[in-house]
Amino acid sequence: ILHFLSDPDVDGENAYQFFEDGALLIENGRVLQVGEAEAVLASLSSDIPVVEYKNHLIIPGMIDTHIHFPQVEVIASYGEQLLDWLNNYTFPAERQFEDKEYASNIANFFLDELLKNGTTTALVFGTVHKQSVEAFFEASEQRNTRMICGKVMMNRNAPEFLCDTPESSYQDSKELIEAWHNKGRQLYAVTPRFAITSTEEQLQKAGQLMEEYPDVYMQTHISENKDEVAFVQELFPDSKDYLDVYDQFGLLGKRSVFAHGIHLTPREHQRFRETGSSVSFCPTSNLFLGSGLLDIKELEEEQVAYSVATDVGGGTSFSMLQTLNEAYKVTQLNGNKLSALKSLYLATLGNAKTLQLEDKIGSFKEGNEADFAVLDFNSTPLMSLKQSKCKTLAEKLFAMIILGDDRAVRATYVAGNCVHDRDNSSASQTNQ
Ligand code: GUN
Ligand code: FE
Repeated sequence: ILHFLSDPDVDGENAYQFFEDGALLIENGRVLQVGEAEAVLASLSSDIPVVEYKNHLIIPGMIDTHIHFPQVEVIASYGEQLLDWLNNYTFPAERQFEDKEYASNIANFFLDELLKNGTTTALVFGTVHKQSVEAFFEASEQRNTRMICGKVMMNRNAPEFLCDTPESSYQDSKELIEAWHNKGRQLYAVTPRFAITSTEEQLQKAGQLMEEYPDVYMQTHISENKDEVAFVQELFPDSKDYLDVYDQFGLLGKRSVFAHGIHLTPREHQRFRETGSSVSFCPTSNLFLGSGLLDIKELEEEQVAYSVATDVGGGTSFSMLQTLNEAYKVTQLNGNKLSALKSLYLATLGNAKTLQLEDKIGSFKEGNEADFAVLDFNSTPLMSLKQSKCKTLAEKLFAMIILGDDRAVRATYVAGNCVHDRDNSSASQTNQ
C-alpha cells in the first residue's frame, strides 16, 4: 500500500506511507485504518471478510482533472491542431448528445473505461445539451463514483446546432446545480467552453452562477494553442491577456480549473497565484494536437497550482499511468525531471488538493472515502522482467508508470465496493 500525506518534493520520504505488507480497513465505504497487515489484522474479529492481493500495489483511486465524456469517439482523429480539430471532428461528434439515450450509452462506456484504468474521480465536460449532463450524473450515481461535471456554455464561433444563449445556458446550469450539486457524491462545475465560444454576456452569466453558488466548480480552457490565444486577443481587445477575460467576469478562484495553460505570461501566472486558480496539465493532448510543452518547473517557480489530466478526446489515453508517462517525457524535453513518486502524488493527493477534495479522496487518511486501485507489477511479460530488475520503490513505481496501462489495473474499488475486476470482467467490458 502506498499513499501520500503531502508533496514529496517538499517533504521527501516523510510525504508518503508505504507498507510492503499492508492492510486497508474499510467500514461503510470509508477508510478506518491503514497500516502494516499484521497490526491491522490483529485487531479484527474473525468474521470480517478479508480480500488479499499478493504482490500488488494498492493506491488511492486516481483523479483526472480534465476530460470530455462526449469525446470518447473523437480520440485518434487525424491531422489537425486545436481550432480545426474542434470544427472538423469534435463539434460534429458532440451534436449527437442532443439524444439522451446516446448520451447515456456513452456515459456508461466512459465511466467503465475510467474505472478500468483505476481513475475514480474526474472533472468532466458534458456538451451544450443539458440532458448530456443528466445522463452523465445518472450513470455516475449508479456506480456511486465521485464525479464533477458541467454543461458546456457556448453561444458563438460554433455551429448553430451547438449554441445556447446567455439566458438558456444560465437557466440550464442553474437547474443542473439545484438537481445535482452535492447529490450523493456528484458535484457541479460551471463550464464555459473557452473565451472564443462565449460572448461577454454569457461569461457574465457564468460569473453570476459562481457568485450565487460559491461552492460549485468552474472549468474551462486557456492558452492551449497560439492561434487560439491570438483569436481571443482579437475578440477581447480590451483585455490585458487571455486570463484577464475570465478574471473580468469573476471566474477565478480555488475551485477554478483551467486546462492546458501552456502559453501563459508572467502576469497571468501572478493572477493564478493570487487567486489560487489551477492549471490542468494535459500532456497526451498537448502532444497529440501539437499544442506545446507545458513547463511544470516554471509553474512551480511561479507558485501556480497545477494538476494532471488526460483531456480525452484531444488526449489519447484514459490511463493516468500513460498520462504520467507522457508528462515525464514532456518534462524531459523542457530539461527538467518528474520523479515517479511525485507523479503518483500528483495523480492522487495532488489532484485532490487542486479540487479542494483532499479531506474526502486522494489518500487513505482515516475517514476518507475508500476509493482505490490495485496495481499489478506483473501485468505483462515485459513489465515482469523489468520489475525483477528494480530495487527501490521509486524504480518499481517508475517502471509501472512507463510500462503500465489499463492491463496493470487488477481491480478498482469505489466507496469500498469492487467496481472493476480485470480477471473477472463481464462480457460487455472489452479490453483494449
Ligand atoms: N478548447 C475548447 N474546447 C476544447 C476541447 O474540446 N478540447 C480541447 N483540447 N481544447 C478545447
Ligand atoms: Fe479539453
